[in-house]
Amino acid sequence: MSDTTRKPVLFSGIQPSGHITLGNFIGSMRNFTLLEKDYDCLFSIVDLHALTVRQNPAVLRSNTLELAALYIACGLNPEESIIYCQSHVPQHAELAWILNCFTYMGELGRMTQFKDKSRKHSDNINAGLFTYPVLMAADILLYQANLVPVGADQKQHLEITRDIAQRFNALHPGVFVVPEPHIPKETAKIMSLTEPEKKMSKSDPEDSLVSMLDKPEVVRRKLRRAVTDSDGEIRFDPENKPGVSNLLAILSVLSGESMDALTTRLSGQGYGKLKEETAEVVVATLEPIQARYQALMADKAYMADTLKRNAERAQYLALRTLRKVYKKLGLYQP
Ligand code: TRP
Repeated sequence: MSDTTRKPVLFSGIQPSGHITLGNFIGSMRNFTLLEKDYDCLFSIVDLHALTVRQNPAVLRSNTLELAALYIACGLNPEESIIYCQSHVPQHAELAWILNCFTYMGELGRMTQFKDKSRKHSDNINAGLFTYPVLMAADILLYQANLVPVGADQKQHLEITRDIAQRFNALHPGVFVVPEPHIPKETAKIMSLTEPEKKMSKSDPEDSLVSMLDKPEVVRRKLRRAVTDSDGEIRFDPENKPGVSNLLAILSVLSGESMDALTTRLSGQGYGKLKEETAEVVVATLEPIQARYQALMADKAYMADTLKRNAERAQYLALRTLRKVYKKLGLYQP
């Protein structure tokens, strides 16, 4: 990403809370390498956001590095895209403060994620949880991002980001680009292995998910134990057969075999066969990624240097926006 290119800017943030799952990979990371060609991309590890719920410091630190290495291992190029940690770029927190002054209590109180998380962490309903969407708006607006890939759970946060940008622009025209959601062409939503009505989530119990770093025998065991149903029929029907459909979706997406071809080929076979084939394609997908990941993690100096350089690239862009904002608002700058 350079100053002179005219590609649209794409910003994506992912929290370093928990291990990246196969669901994250299929739903988003896998597509990022394609986006790199058409957009100037920033992939931010949003460690400040993670602090809105209590984290174990050592675990947070190792998850952060793991995530950076996984981004690269999945095929993203850190000389092209900007892969960096949010906390390394202080302008995020600075702009978030400013945007707090352009955001209403009422609109933050309506955020469904705030309501959900307040329920889930009722012993720690902190102000950061409340202003979480404002920091997210700052992430995006700081880089004048045109596009933000968002899943259904983050749509509302992108909406509020747009509202904040428009409100600010109404007073100070032309400061922020108003971002649009980037909806991938074809998305396969990967569900929990144990509760297939729910999305696979990196903060859920281990046996419900496949982690990108699971060893082959762990992948095989988890898939063997995946919840299915009792009618014994291999058919794609997410409504009535969520478990079987989820396995079929994983298998189809990763093997490239169309759903029609797959269900025809496997019809009349047992679930054991479906689970086995799914496990093998997952293992084969993870193998080269894990090998690259191990090599990256073995070279701590490379990782540290890469994250440092990328944070500097991000800061360069962030400062340009922040200076403009400070100036427009009348903050005296000698
Ligand atoms: N809130 C997002 C999530 O939990 C993470 C995030 C933070 C993000 N800042 C962002 C996503 C900016 C997109 C753009 O998934």
